[in-house]
Amino acid sequence: MAAPSASGLKYASKLANQRVLILGGTSGIGFAVSEASLEAGLLVTVSSSSSSKLSTALDRLRSSPAYVPSSTSVAEGGVPRLTGFTCDLSNPSTVEANLTQLLDQATLEGRHKFDHVVFTAGDALALTPIGQITPEGYARASAVRFTAPLILSKLLSTEKYFNHSVYSSITFTSGTNSEKPAPGWSVVAGVCGAIEGLARGLAVDLKPTRVNLVSPGAVKTELFSAFGEGEQLEQLLDGFKKQTLTGTVGTPEDVAEAYIYLMRDRYVTGRCLGTDGGRLLA
Ligand SMILES: NC(=O)c1ccc[n+]([C@@H]2O[C@H](COP(=O)([O-])OP(=O)(O)OC[C@H]3O[C@@H](n4cnc5c(N)ncnc54)[C@H](OP(=O)(O)O)[C@@H]3O)[C@@H](O)[C@H]2O)c1
Repeated sequence: MAAPSASGLKYASKLANQRVLILGGTSGIGFAVSEASLEAGLLVTVSSSSSSKLSTALDRLRSSPAYVPSSTSVAEGGVPRLTGFTCDLSNPSTVEANLTQLLDQATLEGRHKFDHVVFTAGDALALTPIGQITPEGYARASAVRFTAPLILSKLLSTEKYFNHSVYSSITFTSGTNSEKPAPGWSVVAGVCGAIEGLARGLAVDLKPTRVNLVSPGAVKTELFSAFGEGEQLEQLLDGFKKQTLTGTVGTPEDVAEAYIYLMRDRYVTGRCLGTDGGRLLA
């Protein structure tokens, strides 16, 4: 069990020196969660499929004012303040082997377990119209956002890689389109609904470890590059702004707060936390 911080600060140091794995931590929302985790004093491991993206993200995180290298080397039994490993989650037939390799590498075969896991990985959205979906198409659309977290949960369900306790948490990512789908988003809404059900089931099955989700509205991240750039992108963002009460599109830095909160509050489990500018009421 991870011990509460020994520093005198009751709130600010709640997560200090606990270990977090952030899958999808090299970009967008996950990158902001990685930065915020360093600021909260966590020992951070990031992962994604591209080695160049991973190396750029690690360089950016090392230049964060919150980054202080660990004083004890790995050879001396220390845990690095920041590490990263590639892991491709897109192929259901290799995902268990890839995740096992990631967890073995990152925990040194289970010697340094994680206290928190955050899952924000997501590939380009497959907005397939419902009239064209096939079982294979659904398998592709759900591979990274549902199958990967499902198999990850299996691997985390034992004590090998994860410290199970009320101090520990697993946080997945959904999206407001599960509750208020835009036209043409049935398949994506289905994937989001599936991950929400999985999180609630795991909150029961993995208790007392806490399992929650964050459900963001539109957040301007690298994910939007698939929807164009310049004028075209601005028009899209204006459309999203009009769908909120705040009249804004979210920033990764704001949404990252939700993930940090879910790690910190030891009384929250089985919950989906929205951060969406009030989109459900607009
Ligand atoms: N941005 C929004 O408006 C919004 C709204 C609601 C929900 N969401 C959800 O929030 C999550 C994060 O979105 P984002 O906007 O932060 O996206 P993003 O900036 O594109 O980041 C996605 C992350 O997932 C990783 N990833 C992609 N394919 C992967 C694969 N095959 N294996 C392992 N990792 C992979 C990416 O790194 P690599 O490319 O290196 O693999 C990257 O680190 C997604 O699930 C998205 O659907 C986003």
